[in-house]
Amino acid sequence: MTETPTRPTPEEARRRAGELKRELEHHGHLYHVLDRPQITDAEYDKLFRELVDLEARYPELQTADSPTQRVGGAPAEAFSKYRHRTPMLSLANAFSLAEVEAFRRRIQRIVPDVDRFVCELKIDGLAMSLTYRDGELVTGATRGDGVEGEDVTANARTIRSIPVRLRGVPGGLPREFEVRGEVYMPKPSFAALNQQLEEDGKQTYANPRNAAAGAVRQLNPTVTASRGLQTFMYQLDPPGPARSQTEVLALLGEMGFRVNPNCREVDGDGIASYLEHWGDARHDLDYGTDGVVIKVAEREIQAELGAVSRSPRWAIAYKFPPEERETRVQDILVNVGRTGTCTPVAFLEPVLIAGSTVQRCTLHNEDEVARKDVRAGDTVVVHKAGDVIPEIVRVVLEMRPADAMAWIPPTSCPVCGSELVRQEGEVARRCVNPLCPAQRWERLIHFTGRSSLDIEGMGPMVIAALIEAGYVEDAADFFRLTREQVLQLDRFADRSADNLIASIAARRRVPLHRLLNALGVPNVGEHTALVLAAHFRSLERLEEATEEELLEVEGIGPIVAAAIARWFHGEDGRKLLRKLAEVGVEAETAPVVGEGPWTGQAWVLTGSLEAMPRPDAEERIRRLGGNPGSSVSRKTHTVVAGPGAGGKLEKAQRLGVRVIDEAAFLEELEAAEGSGSGSG
Ligand code: IVH
Repeated sequence: MTETPTRPTPEEARRRAGELKRELEHHGHLYHVLDRPQITDAEYDKLFRELVDLEARYPELQTADSPTQRVGGAPAEAFSKYRHRTPMLSLANAFSLAEVEAFRRRIQRIVPDVDRFVCELKIDGLAMSLTYRDGELVTGATRGDGVEGEDVTANARTIRSIPVRLRGVPGGLPREFEVRGEVYMPKPSFAALNQQLEEDGKQTYANPRNAAAGAVRQLNPTVTASRGLQTFMYQLDPPGPARSQTEVLALLGEMGFRVNPNCREVDGDGIASYLEHWGDARHDLDYGTDGVVIKVAEREIQAELGAVSRSPRWAIAYKFPPEERETRVQDILVNVGRTGTCTPVAFLEPVLIAGSTVQRCTLHNEDEVARKDVRAGDTVVVHKAGDVIPEIVRVVLEMRPADAMAWIPPTSCPVCGSELVRQEGEVARRCVNPLCPAQRWERLIHFTGRSSLDIEGMGPMVIAALIEAGYVEDAADFFRLTREQVLQLDRFADRSADNLIASIAARRRVPLHRLLNALGVPNVGEHTALVLAAHFRSLERLEEATEEELLEVEGIGPIVAAAIARWFHGEDGRKLLRKLAEVGVEAETAPVVGEGPWTGQAWVLTGSLEAMPRPDAEERIRRLGGNPGSSVSRKTHTVVAGPGAGGKLEKAQRLGVRVIDEAAFLEELEAAEGSGSGSG
């Protein structure tokens, strides 16, 4: 926002945009498909912004395959149906090695010498079909009932590892072909999403598969884009030159798809060791897998074997036995979250499940405790939902001690003692005392955390120490901390204190969606923050939004709209925003990608404006496609000069740049906004 953009010629812009698209695709592929980035996130962002900028000025450069289009387009009303060219089959299951052996013998009775198999991890996600024409993604569809699914193309485009344009198509494939595979939610994203949902008093997802399916079926692609989905592709139809499943996988990799690196071609005897190895090793992966798909390797033999009813005869899904353990509940206590949400937590005798020791597990909410009738002293069966989140499956009633008493939810906050309330439409009780120390700590952890301001080195223990010392009461206080204060804390020396102060200072200016997430507005998590930032683009505009205006935002319902308006117009919200502004915390205006009557025009505002605050004027210029800037050059389209204008006005006059006053500016603004082509 600080320099007037120089305007390249259309020819230069086209060339540069082409270059940027290729470079961004290349680095996106290294990062999202091969997990081998070669440039830093900041370097990627810089290139990305340059392209966003160019496309804003030359909308014709903004093609559907541009990396900028991955962030999600306009929300849909509903998905249209999509009929699969060939049915998407399911697999027969095997629950033991003996059943896998039976599968192998069955095949060998039909085709005697077959003994090459490809073992692939069965990814805990949902099947997706992608159609490419002339190397470009044309449709993404869910499996549905196998015959008919839903057209989720707009959402598929937001998944970074799905190529929108292929890096080259091998000979032997028709103009149009199909690729199938699995879309899944990595374990860390799943855990974070559920934590957020729980914090918001909402229902959580039972496993990563449901969470991935929920994300793929969002009507608003921006939400899908924010959920960190990943893919592994495994099927190509027709298979072109590939003669075996191993060759199919290699071909998919060459075309730019993400292929699971743990697929192995083995002979019949190799299957057992593959199953044994991954039975344990799967817990170390960052995605859920519930089994192994064993496929006859050779395509020709697959064709010969064909399918029975809804499953191919040439493949089978071996299911890992569920990891369940028994342990004892020592106590049930309530955890008070950042927004005061009270969550019952079971403290367990430590037990090893699915690769890690579990000693506490959430009971989600009091209805859940009642439904499962979990009591302190009970022996319970525990597993990990989606291999991630420890969960009590059931109580072993035969082992219940005679004196075990049903759990009674507390009516007052276990930390501050104030009365708990259960709001309409929520499954949890909340502590509504904003001064509750538990909430304060959690709020400050959230404010500085990864998806919020992301202040390096500011962990829960440092925050606890800062509160304890009386240096920090609210988020704004972080920005007032001095080196001397930090040095007072345990475990801080000169270097580490300097580093902490520097990392705080570095986060005074942050992207709007990060600040929105950080504020801890009830019902506003990462996804809603992104939706709000994309719509309002500046904090000032959001602050002024009425409940009605919020309701007009796609994806914001009445409960959320009311909560946002209440927070921004309420005393506590305003006070925090004012204090943050006082210490110099600022939100970067979210970029506009779009076309308008002022596209490509650089506008400079100078002197004072009477009718509206300057950020609003800048925002309105942006919404019309224009670029508000602060320095005047020959390329400036117009200078708006208010009372008190000085050097910039002089320079504009010297260079012969058009100068208008505020009244004329308002007229032009309104005329342009009324022309109906402003992007919203
Ligand atoms: S092959 C006709 N390979 O499991 C063969 N499926 O029960 C089609 N799945 O709907 C599937 N990982 O969603 C295959 N490596 C893998 C898989 C896999 C997960 C899912 C897929 C399919 C279901 C079959």
